[in-house]
Amino acid sequence: MLYSTYEQLILAWMAVGIVTFFILLKVTAPYGRHSSSGWGPMISNRLGWILMEVPVMLCLLYFMREASVPLTNYAWMLLALFFFHYLNRTFIFPLRIKTKGKKMPLLIVVSAILFNVVNGSSLGYYFANFASYTSADFMSMHFILGALLFCAGLCINWIYDTRLINMRKESSQQYVIPQGALFNVISCPNLFGEIVEWSGFALMCWNLPALAFLVWTLANLLPRAISHHRWYLQKFEDYPKERKAVIPFII
Ligand SMILES: NC(=O)c1ccc[n+]([C@@H]2O[C@H](COP(=O)([O-])OP(=O)(O)OC[C@H]3O[C@@H](n4cnc5c(N)ncnc54)[C@H](OP(=O)(O)O)[C@@H]3O)[C@@H](O)[C@H]2O)c1
Repeated sequence: MLYSTYEQLILAWMAVGIVTFFILLKVTAPYGRHSSSGWGPMISNRLGWILMEVPVMLCLLYFMREASVPLTNYAWMLLALFFFHYLNRTFIFPLRIKTKGKKMPLLIVVSAILFNVVNGSSLGYYFANFASYTSADFMSMHFILGALLFCAGLCINWIYDTRLINMRKESSQQYVIPQGALFNVISCPNLFGEIVEWSGFALMCWNLPALAFLVWTLANLLPRAISHHRWYLQKFEDYPKERKAVIPFII
């Protein structure tokens, strides 16, 4: 495929992400605290998470096997960071969550698989056919800033996922008002961390598919955080009113 054709496909995929953002502002994705049985057949929450997330790694691996350009150290570093995140999200996170007996609609799993197949393939195709990174990229400003953001975002995401998982353990299946540190300013620090992380990844990659990946991350996570925040305000009368949803002091 010519790069110009590939570029047009990625731009179209980004446009779909932007439309999805507006849809998700109106229709809350029904999983986790928003799970609902009105969306067709349901499957186990834990299995759902694994099935949803595994395709992105499989697609990347497939395209790596087909690579027509040599993979440089810089490209390997980017791929390693991507896999580092997704090994946690696919296998570790679902095994840690306290979710026994909870279910999610199969529709969510199918739509997330579609999202992950396109994202994994678009990144994989780029690395396999167009990537021309060199060691000089390790000295670039976009790498240094991106690496800082990626590491900070990854830590924030893991720390606050862990705090939420532990809260559930302590309060036996009930939801509680999270308190302390970033929770004092936003309702969803774990989602904030994930946004920071993929912003850093897009900077380090400095390519169109990673930008599309960030657009889709924002399209999924901003509406989800707004829905979580609204849910907290409705569920807990004493929920701190000054908290924002996901971006400190802004949203
Ligand atoms: N890149 C993307 O497009 C994308 C999309 C979606 C999610 N994610 C990532 O996937 C992870 C999970 O997302 P999520 O929206 O499902 O997270 P979440 O609602 O914050 O839930 C995380 C875990 O903590 C539990 N929990 C949340 N709030 C709680 C509270 N107040 N009291 C007790 N337990 C609580 C949840 O239980 P329940 O499940 O029972 O509510 C779940 O097990 C996040 O790290 C997010 O960044 C990424």
